[in-house]
Amino acid sequence: MAELTQGFRAVVIGATGGIGSGFVEKLHQHSSCGDVIGLSRSTTPALDLTDEASIEAAATSIGGEVDLVIDATGFLSDGETQPEKSLRALNVENFARLFAINATGPALIMKHFLPLLPRDRHVIFATLSARVGSIGDNGLGGWYAYRASKAALNQIVRCASIEIGRKNKQSLVVSLHPGTVETGLSDPFASDRDRLSPQKSASMMLDVLFDLAAEETGSFWDYRGERIEW
Ligand SMILES: NC(=O)c1ccc[n+]([C@@H]2O[C@H](COP(=O)([O-])OP(=O)(O)OC[C@H]3O[C@@H](n4cnc5c(N)ncnc54)[C@H](OP(=O)(O)O)[C@@H]3O)[C@@H](O)[C@H]2O)c1
Repeated sequence: MAELTQGFRAVVIGATGGIGSGFVEKLHQHSSCGDVIGLSRSTTPALDLTDEASIEAAATSIGGEVDLVIDATGFLSDGETQPEKSLRALNVENFARLFAINATGPALIMKHFLPLLPRDRHVIFATLSARVGSIGDNGLGGWYAYRASKAALNQIVRCASIEIGRKNKQSLVVSLHPGTVETGLSDPFASDRDRLSPQKSASMMLDVLFDLAAEETGSFWDYRGERIEW
């Protein structure tokens, strides 16, 4: 276990989302956290995952170093895009959309926000993946584009952890599964009985992040602190 410096600065991207809001709330209440900056499509500056210039401008707006960056963005479905139950349902536009938001966008977040992490102390970058992105854990099939986009995200996290780890041996770069959480994203697929509140999920994931040693960088964890296979 390694601790972030007292009074650490945190950035939450996707701060207006269900789980992102939970992270912002819990970080505001955290005794060691000195500053929390929330970014999303509706903040100033606005950060849109499909517009690299907006990601770069948002990173520049931070003005200085941060110790903790959490990417809580992501997309599963809406009226136009639904998870595929079979190969027959595969659709090029849906695949491109899921990959743009769940894999390429977070990769660009890593490109522009990881340089804000100092190299001389413990720092953390975490992105919200999903257990269904685990290839080893896939026993049900279906949800092709969402699963594949999260598997791609996991590979990007692994690559970035190696690159950042060469410059800072105290860095922790990980993917997280938040559990099934009461948000708009899971509303169509789960009942409240089975879901965690966003605050509970965020609080449990912060505990996991603050408990993990830097040696665990480049790995995938659930909200209970259990490792998930790739
Ligand atoms: N909820 C669950 O049960 C569950 C389970 C497993 C994994 N996850 C993962 O957890 C993460 C957060 O999900 P959530 O449940 O909190 O969903 P959510 O409430 O729908 O939040 C999604 C967030 O992603 C942002 N976003 C989407 N498209 C964007 C874009 N083009 N540019 C910038 N931001 C964009 C949204 O921004 P706006 O506010 O601007 O729309 C919002 O902040 C996702 O990666 C999801 O895959 C969730």
